[in-house]
Amino acid sequence: SIPVPNVQELVREDPSQVPQRYVRDMEDRPKDTDMSHLSSLIPLIDFSLLLLGNKEELNKLDLACQDWGFFQVVNHGVAKEVLQKMKDVAAEFFELPLEEKNKNAMPSDDIQGYGHIYVISEEQILDWSDALMLAVHPSHYRKLKFWPKSPTGLQEIIEEYSNAIRKFGTELLESFSLIMGMEKEALLGLHKQLIQAYRVNYYPPCSKPDQVLGVSPHSDSSTITILMQDDDVCGLQIKHDDDWVPVNTIPDALVVKVGDVIEMWSNGKYKSIEHRAVVNDERARISYASFLYPHDEVEIEPLIDPKTEQLIYKKVKYGDYLRNSMKTKMEGKAHTHVAKVE
Ligand code: SIN
Ligand code: FE2
Repeated sequence: SIPVPNVQELVREDPSQVPQRYVRDMEDRPKDTDMSHLSSLIPLIDFSLLLLGNKEELNKLDLACQDWGFFQVVNHGVAKEVLQKMKDVAAEFFELPLEEKNKNAMPSDDIQGYGHIYVISEEQILDWSDALMLAVHPSHYRKLKFWPKSPTGLQEIIEEYSNAIRKFGTELLESFSLIMGMEKEALLGLHKQLIQAYRVNYYPPCSKPDQVLGVSPHSDSSTITILMQDDDVCGLQIKHDDDWVPVNTIPDALVVKVGDVIEMWSNGKYKSIEHRAVVNDERARISYASFLYPHDEVEIEPLIDPKTEQLIYKKVKYGDYLRNSMKTKMEGKAHTHVAKVE
């Protein structure tokens, strides 16, 4: 990545400024057509029922993954106190002076640290956000120089929150195995090792929210992404039937996005959802994304019954896929295209 301005600092200096580099082309700007009536259609899964193997809830999960590639989850087992502490301490981190946060600044040759990933040219239109990005699991992937020492307790809560999310994510993959017609443990086994990364996004308020985007449209290259949102500031939108549907915030719920890996393994039955984030002119928003994905060496190949189904996606080594998808994102393209069988 090349160095770009810190957005929070831009706003701190002059809340009214929106430099040209952030202004989107007309067709990419958020429209003011209100789509919030669609928000309530987004599936809501009760995870305690999935854990009991409840057939109806599994069916709901199956439909959610087919129709939306996206759902919210209640009763996920991550303690309320852990969610709240994560939010409180992360908010404190972003309030620190830039100089302090930059002790963990992302260098141009890395994708970990505090800064802006995927920026490769001076011409590129920039996202209205700053982020802290960390490798979490396995622990030898961690680079501790990027883990903020200040505020006190941030490292500990990232660890605790990530462990709790990992437990939930692992159990959720068991339900995914079941709806994909496999043994409970199958999907986790296919990962060789379940890799985990963490990204905390900070979206400052913007005086011209209708001209910028917090995050450009993209799909996640993970298996699944588990996202925590602030309790009351909306911003995430998902593409559904050509509409950008705003995602409601539900206190203490977690958001799950089906990633590219599930799309490939399910041979396209489940969709990796395109999403983006918009900003507002009043309040900063923070979101917390945990990415779960396979080991680099894993060969991803659709799990299908060749007698009844036609193979859609080519076999690809996950590490190659990930590098390719990062390249696509850096070129500013919305969606990574999974190589299809000719
Ligand atoms: C993202 O998925 O990249 C951002 C999500 C969000 O801020 O809600
Ligand atoms: Fe995303």
